Amino acid sequence: MSRKILVTSALPYANGSIHLGHLVEYIQTDIWVRFQKMQGHTVHYVCADDTHGTPIMLRAEKEGITPEALIESVHQEHAADFAEFLVSFDNYYSTNAPENKALSQSIYKKLKAAGKIATKTIEQFYDPVKNMFLPDRFIKGECPKCHAKDQYGDSCEVCGATYNPTELINAYSAVSGAAPIRKETEHYFFKLSECEDFLKEWTRSGTLQGEAANKMGEWFESGLNDWDISRDAPYFGFEIPDAPGKYFYVWLDAPIGYMASFMNLCAKQGLDFDEYWQADATTELYHFIGKDILYFHALFWPATLEFSGHRKPTKIFSHGFLTVNGEKMSKSRGTFITARSYLDHIKNPEYLRYYYAAKLNSSMEDIDLSLDDFVARVNSDLVGKYINIASRTAGFINKRFAGKLQSAADNMEVAEIKSAAMLIASAYEAREYGKAIREIMRLADIANGYVADKAPWVMAKQEGQDAELQQVCSAALEMFRLLTLYLKPVLPKLALEIEQFLNITALTWESVDLSLVEGHGINAYEHLITRIEPTLIAAMTEANKENLTATAQVSAPILAPIAPELADAEYISIDDFAKVDLRIAKIVNAEHVEGAEKLLKLTLDIGEATTRQVFAGIKSAYDPATLVGRLTVMVANLAPRKMKFGMSEGMVLAASDDRGGPFILSPDAGAQFGMRVK
Ligand code: 2FM
Ligand code: ZN
Repeated sequence: MSRKILVTSALPYANGSIHLGHLVEYIQTDIWVRFQKMQGHTVHYVCADDTHGTPIMLRAEKEGITPEALIESVHQEHAADFAEFLVSFDNYYSTNAPENKALSQSIYKKLKAAGKIATKTIEQFYDPVKNMFLPDRFIKGECPKCHAKDQYGDSCEVCGATYNPTELINAYSAVSGAAPIRKETEHYFFKLSECEDFLKEWTRSGTLQGEAANKMGEWFESGLNDWDISRDAPYFGFEIPDAPGKYFYVWLDAPIGYMASFMNLCAKQGLDFDEYWQADATTELYHFIGKDILYFHALFWPATLEFSGHRKPTKIFSHGFLTVNGEKMSKSRGTFITARSYLDHIKNPEYLRYYYAAKLNSSMEDIDLSLDDFVARVNSDLVGKYINIASRTAGFINKRFAGKLQSAADNMEVAEIKSAAMLIASAYEAREYGKAIREIMRLADIANGYVADKAPWVMAKQEGQDAELQQVCSAALEMFRLLTLYLKPVLPKLALEIEQFLNITALTWESVDLSLVEGHGINAYEHLITRIEPTLIAAMTEANKENLTATAQVSAPILAPIAPELADAEYISIDDFAKVDLRIAKIVNAEHVEGAEKLLKLTLDIGEATTRQVFAGIKSAYDPATLVGRLTVMVANLAPRKMKFGMSEGMVLAASDDRGGPFILSPDAGAQFGMRVK
């Protein structure tokens, strides 16, 4: 029976690039969507940029552009990244859109009419220089427990304490540096505390994974607080009706963005919006999310939908976080890899899609991208097992039989591979992609065993074995066709190329019951994929480390405003920072480097037995003679790097951006070379 399904992935914030952590979710969702489409169901997959909130407003201001210009350029970047990773949204929209404004305001009015909105005067920190209320993450100060300086308004990164911003000692605004004052303001609240019965009932309906339902149990136990849905001007967002100067908090209009993106698609394709959102809709609605935003999707969102007269999600699918090489993604290790950087270095997005698929299951456990394992698995499974089936057999069909196949209808191995279709389909349906991939690779082993056993390359050299040679190669290609069908949700581009090579129409799940028939002509075989060279991985991580170096040189001090929505992985801990060995260095020699456009060769004394040689990109700004004898700051424990002109044994710190530079750093008078900087 054909189903009507609406699917969403979480809306990425419009103030940062898509990285490999994000891609877990988009690839997971996309595989599911493609699988459902192959089943013949009607599926709409929508997403959008999450564009509102204080961090985006402040970032635009810092860049000297309007928030609209910022979100427009990020939208283009995100859309291009997703397209190149073959994430097949039917609509990729923006929360800053007229549909979203109208829907947010109308939902709010319905919640109000249902008695679910309250106002309360609260006291908040206010930046008297910037004239704005400060979200907790934009207030910093001394930890009330351990007295560590420069801690955020909600928790201390040194001792782990959590507290209210009011408890910080010597609090200051991370935006202007001014001491914040306390100021009263009226806020609007969604009365979540009144939704408990509904939410408990809804949790029992099987909408959530077991782990998520348990989490809900914990939240019910600690009691549901009313949800603050308003923010004061200045705020980049939608104004609340009849409340001048008050705006919807970004998390109010973000999930409504799912509806808005779909509404926009409806207008483009003549679809019926209500069929998917009215209270008694019989269509299906699935949200794929990360486990960190379960609270919003399992509490606020269903309650918002229920009390504004809409349908609730059929299921919410939460996944875990990505670790790289067993650890949190890290800029210093070069494992905080953006989608673009992956594409620039590895090129082929399907390698990552395959690896994630092989690792994913339906739980909320974290998944690990082990870069060595990534290379090994892609090379052995995709190149060594799967593509190998065609590369060892297609040539004979083309050269010896003018591209014409024999029937493989009676082949036992073909029958076995066909019979796995149901099992693989159930695994995809249940988001047990790892299980599907294991089964598909087991079948690829069967196919390879068959080819190895029959050894067509031996038959080809013997007289009178033509018929069998054609039979064997045809059977192998039929197996290859079936495996391609099974892998198509994961490897859509490769599948398309193989459909062209096999000269067949687009594979759907029904194509399992078809076969390559006797006399069918295939096209010339061209090499379909190549092995990943481990050097590409090394270059990618190295380049991501270099990015960090570049940013460190241009960015403002550590006190620059930190966005509350900044991914954890973008911060470094005090321990990470402590790993950097910064030293006062004396420049004992400086000279030009023949053939180098930007570099000077510096010899640095940091009080060790031998001096250090460092190549620094400061030639444009310094005459080497003026540097000799100066003190500067160097990173003394940077791994030595072999450069074209020799080894570089550290890095000199310099500031630069479009206003000028580079300017190398100098310590205050009194500092001695060899001193540690901490
Ligand atoms: O956590 C995030 O990245 C949010 N931008 C996700 C929003 S999902 C939806 F609710 F809009
Ligand atoms: Zn502390």
